[in-house]
Amino acid sequence: MTVAPRFTFKNGTLHAEDVSLATLAKEYGTPLYVYSRAALQDAWESYARALEGRKALVCFGMKANSNLAVLNEFARLGSGFDIVSGGELARVLAAGGDPGKVVFSGVGKQVWEMQAALEAGVKCFNVESEAELERLSRVAASSGRVAPISLRVNPDVDARTHPYISTGLKENKFGIAIERAPEVYRRAKSLPGLNIVGVDCHIGSQITEASPYLDALEKLIALILGLREDGIELSHLDLGGGIGIRYTDETVLQPVELFSQVFDRLDKAGLGHLELVLEPGRSLVGNAGVLLTEVQYLKHSEAKNFAIVDAAMNDLLRPTLYDAWHDVEAVNPRLVTDSTPVYDIVGPICESGDWLARERRMELHQGDLLAIMSAGAYAFTMSSQYNTRPRPAEIMVDGTRSYVVRERESIESLFQGENLLPQEQAIRTKES
Ligand code: LLP
Repeated sequence: MTVAPRFTFKNGTLHAEDVSLATLAKEYGTPLYVYSRAALQDAWESYARALEGRKALVCFGMKANSNLAVLNEFARLGSGFDIVSGGELARVLAAGGDPGKVVFSGVGKQVWEMQAALEAGVKCFNVESEAELERLSRVAASSGRVAPISLRVNPDVDARTHPYISTGLKENKFGIAIERAPEVYRRAKSLPGLNIVGVDCHIGSQITEASPYLDALEKLIALILGLREDGIELSHLDLGGGIGIRYTDETVLQPVELFSQVFDRLDKAGLGHLELVLEPGRSLVGNAGVLLTEVQYLKHSEAKNFAIVDAAMNDLLRPTLYDAWHDVEAVNPRLVTDSTPVYDIVGPICESGDWLARERRMELHQGDLLAIMSAGAYAFTMSSQYNTRPRPAEIMVDGTRSYVVRERESIESLFQGENLLPQEQAIRTKES
């Protein structure tokens, strides 16, 4: 059993659903991102079940995985999208998503992005600062449109996760301090071109406990009830994303358990009529993908053993950036004994930080295939072409079939659009 239920061993070979990863490597080469459609559907179901019978909208936090096929799958399941750029909006539209189910987050929205979102008719702008509120009012009013808004408030709770992915503390750049929110709502009410529809928070990512959510919810409830006294009625409450996944042996939050507590609290506060908006990213896609890679060399030294593979930090930045753990499974595992060496699994990039996994006891040979697990979220979307490495193809498996949902990049495409400087005229050189 792996951390990802749709990636299992059949006859000694790791499969994505019913397709052998060895077959995929042969067919498409490595490195390769492999996603499971059924795993996307399973993850979606876990939210759908939790929200059944309630007014709620899941807006997939698409920064986790913005491949068009993934977006299209979620759009077909009824998902909305949480976007943070004009580029992400364009992807939603290209994938057949409904702009009326889009919430637009992010601290640095530019004028053109606001215009595009107004034109597309997004559900809501999650406004993250007072300066943004003023700009949005000007942009909307000058185009004769009305921008539906929430304020993203910062409830100052500790999500108890990695500091780089914790966003709900006072010292973070995100959102408006909750104490200031009533005043900013009053300001919003007085500005042209704005329609107040909700409140929003997102406290962090890879959260494995319910308490930070419930603490944030208490603060939002108090805010909503206070606003009511000011004559400001909201129609939705957006609790952001952040539910963690199992990378190794974490106990994870189940949407059903978390959101039944959320609905209980809302009902008790007399706010059961509010639509609950969620922005899950990682928990919808993280365990629906692996990064498949081939061992190029084994290097044994006195201090360490290295397995040098063909994937690298440019394909999966999380280990080096966050010290993140990803399970590594051999596609055709060999027997591990006490004398089996312990390897650091590293890429070919010229940086000591180029590692994917550390200190794994595995019986490895040159040419072996490895699956870096839980690579469905924040893997491809955070990839780069560092060292002029073309990005791997992305494959979607569906039952016994596989589809290329993004081609492997060609080397030429990496410098397409680059120009040489004008060459010195030979004649001028002679004259001088
Ligand atoms: N909504 C907002 C406003 C966000 O900033 C994020 C993620 C999400 C939703 C989705 O959060 P999720 O459900 O995926 O936790 N690159 C990091 C994660 C960064 C998360 C940024 N914001 C990683 O690889 O762990």
